[in-house]
Amino acid sequence: MEKSSIPKHIGIIMDGNGRWAEMRGLPRVEGHKRGVERVSEMVEAATGIGIEALSLYAFSIENWKRPEDEISVIMGLLETTLSREFLNFMREGIRFRIIGNRDRLPRTVGAVIEQVEKGTAENKRLTLQCALSYGGRDEIIRAAKKIVQSGASADTVNEELFSSLMDTAGVPDPDLIIRTSGEQRISNFLLWQSAYSEFYFTDTLWPDFTKDELLEAVREYQKRSRRFGAVNLSQPKAFNSWGG
Ligand code: IPE
Ligand code: IPE
Ligand code: MG
Repeated sequence: MEKSSIPKHIGIIMDGNGRWAEMRGLPRVEGHKRGVERVSEMVEAATGIGIEALSLYAFSIENWKRPEDEISVIMGLLETTLSREFLNFMREGIRFRIIGNRDRLPRTVGAVIEQVEKGTAENKRLTLQCALSYGGRDEIIRAAKKIVQSGASADTVNEELFSSLMDTAGVPDPDLIIRTSGEQRISNFLLWQSAYSEFYFTDTLWPDFTKDELLEAVREYQKRSRRFGAVNLSQPKAFNSWGG
């Protein structure tokens, strides 16, 4: 692995839990249980290669449309996993935070989140962002509302201001976004922040995703040429047909 081009921030759209379970004749929630079990291995791999931030899409704002019993299993899993991982986060130097709309979260989940966020706030090795009740459009609208409420004048509104009001404030934009399960779409994840992210799509369903495949995605990322709209001066110039 090329050390000089390790992504600073990786986002993962952890998709395919339901299909993983259905393929085995199991209820969808069994897929969510298996999915949660994959998370600690990813966090370990991310810290291992020196990534600064890992954002995991756990539950979208649109996922509130799902059946109530599926939602309550997901919320329950989140609560128990967070309480269980707290000490591990402290040991490993992981700062945990939620990105997303907190208004709809059950009170008990909110309380655990607050405890883990406060407890890990000073940790420096890796920022682990869990996108929960998250929608990119919702995040942009919440930021816009804050700007309007502050009475800011139009000429102070710029990209830096918006970035500072996003839930991800202080974390660099994702260099690489991975989506499992074969779907090739963003599903409202990090819309503002993904302007120049590289994408890696895999057919692997999230409960089958491994550390090795994460490293494979990083290797693939390292082969990409990121130009950010400019010309890449490190590439040899093409023959100039104007004779120059
Ligand atoms: C991703 O798996 C987890 C959540 C969205 C909560 P899905 O539940 O979307 O699984 P599929 O896409 O139906 O297989
Ligand atoms: C996106 O997956 C959200 C998460 C992985 C948490 P979905 O399964 O909800 O997305 P769509 O509906 O296939 O776009
Ligand atoms: Mg899905």
